[in-house]
Amino acid sequence: MYKVRVDKINKMWLRLKGVRDVDNRLHQEFMPEEVIEEVRSRADIVEIISEYVSLQRKGKNFLGLCPFHAEKTPSFTVTPEKQMFYCFGCNVGGNVFSFLMKKENWSFLECIQNLAARYGVSLPEKELSPREREENRRRLRFEEIHELAAEYFHNLLLKSPEGELGRLYFAQRGVDSDTIRSFRLGYAPDRWDGLLTYMKARGVQPLELAENGLALERGTPGKGGGYYDRFRNRVLFSILDRRNHVIGFGGRVLDDSLPKYLNSPETFFFNKGHHLYGMHSGHQGIRERGYALLVEGYMDVIALQKAGYSNAVASLGTALTRDQAKLLRRYTQRVVLLYDSDEAGIQAALRGGEILRYAGIRVDVATLAGAKDPDEFLKSYGVEAFEKVLKQVIGYVEFKFRMSVQKAPPQTIQEKAELVVKLAPDILKVSSPIEREGYERFLSLELGLTLEAVQREIAGLEQKKPKKEPLKEYSQQNQVSSEKNRDNIDSVIICKNDDAFPSPAVYSGEYRTERMLLRLLIEDISHLPKIKAKLGEFFWKVPAHQQIFDYLNQEGKLPAHSEEQAQSWLAGLLLEELDISQTERLLDDCIKGILSSQAEERVEDLQARMVALEKSGDMAGAMALLKEIGERLKRGK
Ligand code: UTP
Ligand code: MN
Repeated sequence: MYKVRVDKINKMWLRLKGVRDVDNRLHQEFMPEEVIEEVRSRADIVEIISEYVSLQRKGKNFLGLCPFHAEKTPSFTVTPEKQMFYCFGCNVGGNVFSFLMKKENWSFLECIQNLAARYGVSLPEKELSPREREENRRRLRFEEIHELAAEYFHNLLLKSPEGELGRLYFAQRGVDSDTIRSFRLGYAPDRWDGLLTYMKARGVQPLELAENGLALERGTPGKGGGYYDRFRNRVLFSILDRRNHVIGFGGRVLDDSLPKYLNSPETFFFNKGHHLYGMHSGHQGIRERGYALLVEGYMDVIALQKAGYSNAVASLGTALTRDQAKLLRRYTQRVVLLYDSDEAGIQAALRGGEILRYAGIRVDVATLAGAKDPDEFLKSYGVEAFEKVLKQVIGYVEFKFRMSVQKAPPQTIQEKAELVVKLAPDILKVSSPIEREGYERFLSLELGLTLEAVQREIAGLEQKKPKKEPLKEYSQQNQVSSEKNRDNIDSVIICKNDDAFPSPAVYSGEYRTERMLLRLLIEDISHLPKIKAKLGEFFWKVPAHQQIFDYLNQEGKLPAHSEEQAQSWLAGLLLEELDISQTERLLDDCIKGILSSQAEERVEDLQARMVALEKSGDMAGAMALLKEIGERLKRGK
């Protein structure tokens, strides 16, 4: 009898990961699978995790307090035998790589490198093309120049007589020297060649400084007009990336003159839309608090982090980008928007909120009364008042409603209907039926309409809505089975954000049966022929189950979900206790259970499911269903 070994499954996820993770694609070009395997087998998951979590042995497993969510009783489990971890509280799990990726925020490649160094596995040198070598060299040089410049500005602010104005400025705004150090704040003197001279002495020529965005050329470029410093007589905010490296600067005037801020220009090295200010320290805070506080200004981030809100970050003076939303999504599923209380801030919150929600982030909005921004608010009213502000956040939909009503209160029935239509797309994005009804009820109360009318209006728009995201299609697919099933499996699927990966907290009925069946199959692949003979290959209702099954069956395409979820999912599945002596009986029970619920499924449901499969490009699945429909019709069912 041949078993699917856990390390095989690990490998399988590594391979799946390759589709989504750029780093992984990189490593696949030059990091042989044997090396990954070598690192994985030498790294001891218990040893590694023990450095972050105090673990107690309990039977075959180790137990501790989960480092990924706040808890008082341990539900975080590490299994040396399977080299996996899983938290039964927050359903995060995976192998040693996923742990470090989450905890240290390393990329997959960084995990391999760090673990290889630690356990003495030698990594193959990557053959770089001349272009890649040149690019690397250039990047390192930019890094070096930015470090030098940051040092120059920072030291000026800290101790030089020329920095006095900057010191006064920050003192007046209540920024202490600890903050100046941790944010690497600086000051650019009122001179045309301060940085130029400093850098020349360190082997950086003006042209190179200009390429780095730190100097500008006089007159027509290339005509020998000479160069001058970009930043003059300004306090400087170093923009640090996650590794604490300086990648750019924002410089603020000391008075009310304009432009208020000058920022480093976009270069291959500094791309504003990819970063968030404050992330160098903020990522830790976001993980700890479980959400990000997104603000507008540099000073807001500094004031908030200083006040203990280490989860505060800001977009870099531009409208929030999709990349920034994706960056946030790597750390959290919830963002509280805390934009300035002027019209521009409201507009930015509406737009930013939309982008965040599109990235799968829950968005709440906080409003500040009596101050223009968080920095000013904290100064005027203190932390306690701010805590209250955070307690009074409203959901994005409610925020949008309030802002619309404030601008143009709907008077006529028609205007009210228009408002419902305007908000419908946002309400339709909500995946929880309870939350959705909450919003519908809210609208009906606020607008003096019946709940039924509001619901009908919104439902009418739902049908017209084009289906974009593949994950949405899964929920559509599952919404169409019979009424009876709606009570168990469907509610499981619909009420989670990530439809393909419902939370175990809501396991029930048929869903559980599938899960058990899959668990049995993973434990022992020799069950495969029997399962296929009795149930076919396309019977799984839960998309994640189908994906894993497909893979096991060596026929599937790669699933369209992130690897973090896949890892957690699999770990949860593997760590579930299983009474091996009962396998055969369990297997038969599962098959019987699935067969009997299939019998109840109506032909229309099958048709709808077939259409969904067809749309998702799974032609084999659709054909199989078509065949089944034909057979049922013949049987007269
Ligand atoms: P604000 O005008 O709200 O500035 O712009 P602020 O950071 O609160 O500054 P203080 O409190 O008056 O000192 C918000 C953000 O927009 C960008 C900056 O990133 C700023 O932090 N911005 C603003 C620019 O890039 N250029 C500008 O001219 C103005
Ligand atoms: Mn401000």
